[in-house]
Amino acid sequence: MEVCVVGTGYVGLVTGTCLAYLGHSVVCVDVDERKIQMLRNGQSPIYEPGLDQLIVQGMQRGHLRFATELAESVKHSDVIFIAVGTPPLASGKADLSYVKAVAQSIGRALDCERRRVIVNKSTVPIGSGNWVEMLVKEGLQDNPAYQERVASVAGAQANSGTTTTSTTRKLPGVKPEDLFLVASNPEFLREGSAITDTFYPDRIVIGATDSFATERLRSLYEPIIEQTFTAPASAPRPAGFTAVPVVTTELASAEMIKYAANAFLATKISFANEIANICERVGADIKEVVRGFGLDSRIGPKFLNAGVGWGGSCFGKDVSALIDIAKEYGYEPQLLRSTVDVNKQQRHVAVHKLQETLKIIKGKTIGLLGLAFKPDTDDLRDAPALEIARQLLEMGARVKAYDPIANDACQRQHPELKLEYTSDAVSLADDCDAVVIVTEWEEFCYLDLQQVGEVMRTKILIDGRNILDPDAVTEAGFKYRGIGR
Ligand SMILES: NC(=O)c1ccc[n+]([C@@H]2O[C@H](COP(=O)([O-])OP(=O)(O)OC[C@H]3O[C@@H](n4cnc5c(N)ncnc54)[C@H](O)[C@@H]3O)[C@@H](O)[C@H]2O)c1
Repeated sequence: MEVCVVGTGYVGLVTGTCLAYLGHSVVCVDVDERKIQMLRNGQSPIYEPGLDQLIVQGMQRGHLRFATELAESVKHSDVIFIAVGTPPLASGKADLSYVKAVAQSIGRALDCERRRVIVNKSTVPIGSGNWVEMLVKEGLQDNPAYQERVASVAGAQANSGTTTTSTTRKLPGVKPEDLFLVASNPEFLREGSAITDTFYPDRIVIGATDSFATERLRSLYEPIIEQTFTAPASAPRPAGFTAVPVVTTELASAEMIKYAANAFLATKISFANEIANICERVGADIKEVVRGFGLDSRIGPKFLNAGVGWGGSCFGKDVSALIDIAKEYGYEPQLLRSTVDVNKQQRHVAVHKLQETLKIIKGKTIGLLGLAFKPDTDDLRDAPALEIARQLLEMGARVKAYDPIANDACQRQHPELKLEYTSDAVSLADDCDAVVIVTEWEEFCYLDLQQVGEVMRTKILIDGRNILDPDAVTEAGFKYRGIGR
């Protein structure tokens, strides 16, 4: 199938690359010329394990190409994905300006020769499917190919003697729904395991009002649904993984599924953090508590890790957008508000622990292990590390940082943060009064405590992700503080 993916960020690039791997002919479009140039050179602009290889392979096989020109790319496509960002506005609403620009451009660019399916893959507020349809129709008004077809149909009607009463003039000669249909296909991939999540998803959700759109998307994804493709070496098929459930529904429910999923996951983490804060006060250990209640099959153990709070480009913005949607409809979403509030509070926990142990922060040197919002990504959007660093700098501390992947991104994107970047955990610890684990990168689970401790001024370790064994750290001579233990 001919596929166009508009937006080559974490979602668009992974989706396009994986679809190309399955044999579809994919063009990925972005307005960011630097990104497109890097991609044409076979380099991924984002860090995602296994992605570079698949990009190069896709290009070599002639299945994947990159462009900055939307109009030309849309022309040949059976399916057009909108995968641009929907970042939060100050009000909490999703910023839909990128989606709007793309939808109108698509309308202006369709060659009007066959029926296309335009797919919202971006996370968008409920009702956006209908709104995108309206915008594409608006774009069609400025589309010469559309005007030509309308004129030729009108001409044919006139020649055949069809009366042109005011009623018939209102009847569209060319129905937009014969030219395009809008579907919703929300994305659930996790950064850091995006390729595995794309090839082996828990489900595929398709929201559409017309079975033509549903069937086209079903056939696009068929190799994934039926698991008939040969697994790439970088993303082996999990044992026993045989087929993917497909949820077909209408647009609004598909859009809501995405918000509900993210709101639930964020709530689960905030819940674990709330319990952790109570554990700490009553002398219980959150790790033990989660092990005990997470074994309940109605609850499950995942997404219950207490720590310095959730971050990333999705949870915060999606929960805020859902709160905003509820408000718009006169509903007060108390649970969602608490999910956000608990998380805000949790961002301060690491600094409170530093104050408890060090007393004075001013003039002290603090090392942050990890900057990215989670391991295996260089994504810093809404990363707890940024807020912790900001608080410490404001309090007069000297702040050092080490992230296995995200140092460069942080330096580039946050020049306002005067951090001292280091290239490994030991040089980070050098001269530090305390070290805080902020991101649970695997290498931090195996810190050489001996070496780290030797170079520190005082051996204080705040384990903001509960990844170390408190007894082992204490035995190595550290003052250890975890979260909720
Ligand atoms: N990142 C995730 O883990 C994730 C997971 C699921 C869903 N989502 C959702 O998917 C959407 C995209 O997220 P992302 O993280 O990939 O965003 P991103 O910011 O990484 O990428 C968006 C891309 O769109 C491009 N763009 C903007 N306007 C454009 C235009 N007019 N034409 C072409 N390209 C344009 C930008 O240059 C950028 O490269 C968002 O709605 C997000 O909520 C993200």
